[in-house]
Amino acid sequence: MSYKVALNFEDGVTRFIEVDSGETVADAAYRQGINIPLDCRDGACGACKCLAEAGRYDLGDNYIEDALSEAEKAEGLVLTCQMRLESDCVLRIPASSEVCKTEQASYEALISDVRALSDSVISLSIKGASLARLSFLPGQYVNLRVPGSDQTRAYSFSSLPQDGEVSFLIRNVPGGLMSGYLSRQARAGDAMTLTGPLGSFYLREIRRPLLMLAGGTGLAPFTAMLEKIAESGSEHPIHLIYGVTHDADLVEMDRLEEFVARIPNFSFTACVASPESSHPHKGYVTQHIAPVHLNDGEVDIYLCGPPPMVEAVNGFLREQGIQPANFHYEKFAASV
Ligand SMILES: Cc1cc2nc3c(=O)[nH]c(=O)nc-3n(C[C@H](O)[C@H](O)[C@H](O)COP(=O)(O)OP(=O)(O)OC[C@H]3O[C@@H](n4cnc5c(N)ncnc54)[C@H](O)[C@@H]3O)c2cc1C
Ligand code: FES
Repeated sequence: MSYKVALNFEDGVTRFIEVDSGETVADAAYRQGINIPLDCRDGACGACKCLAEAGRYDLGDNYIEDALSEAEKAEGLVLTCQMRLESDCVLRIPASSEVCKTEQASYEALISDVRALSDSVISLSIKGASLARLSFLPGQYVNLRVPGSDQTRAYSFSSLPQDGEVSFLIRNVPGGLMSGYLSRQARAGDAMTLTGPLGSFYLREIRRPLLMLAGGTGLAPFTAMLEKIAESGSEHPIHLIYGVTHDADLVEMDRLEEFVARIPNFSFTACVASPESSHPHKGYVTQHIAPVHLNDGEVDIYLCGPPPMVEAVNGFLREQGIQPANFHYEKFAASV
């Protein structure tokens, strides 16, 4: 039996390793060519200390308090030279991928589907044998090379990997390099290169109600997260507020309705900012956040969208005097 561990490095790179039952995480990483920080291998020095963000594990009792104190253990810190797994796990490594002598993985794949979902949003799917070994945490992104150029653009996965295929939700930015390629040239069968996965915006263990706030194609990481939640379930309520600028920007509504049917605790509100909108819910995302969604701060907030939206939500929470238990965000910043 083996488990999968996501190693998240300081520079945003994520690598996945297989850890056999009974094997320590440090041994498994070394076996797979990744030099995570390590010294004594004996539970004495603390050099291999990392933060476990998810998963069940056993640290045994062969380490000393100087290497890992009870308080550190209670915070989720672990010694990878002592850590044996009881489930898949996510570890934050306090070093860069370069220092650990690993790097982002690259994959070659072909476009399997590209189509306009509306005037402003493109759906892209790519498929390839190499993607069968691609793993990522729902919410993470990759860099896609723009065919015919040496430039890359960051895109969040909007799906989980399935049969070597992954999907994206891409805003058609007027005059944009990738947008121009996808809207005018791209055809099924075209080659694409992706590098990653990357990023610290991913679904953590659900320990309290979740509030998901999506702006435009910032919906993408949430559909990947919701796919995962539909598989694993949630004891806590999850509410998504999905805001766009114009009616034409609103996409994937059928898919969100399907999530409502598949996830018993899930609900969502869509809203459109433009005063000309004919949508029943008008205004910005912040205008649709109700006190029940904030649960007096006992809530984990995930936020993804353009930088001004991230700032607006930050300002809103400050005004409301709400300090959420956890606040994770991803800004869809322009690359150029
Ligand atoms: C971590 C991360 C994840 C991302 N995930 C997604 C995703 O899932 N879906 C998605 O649609 N985008 C995502 N983005 C944004 C994406 O990487 C590109 O910036 C965007 O698609 C524009 O690329 P382009 O080549 O079409 O335009 P570019 O050639 O990069 O830009 C053309 C012009 O448009 C401006 N511009 C670029 N983006 C915007 C914008 N959003 N609004 C207004 N003007 C803009 C640029 O400043 C430039 O002047 C993400 C960005 C980051 C950093
Ligand atoms: S390497 Fe020294 S405690 Fe793990």
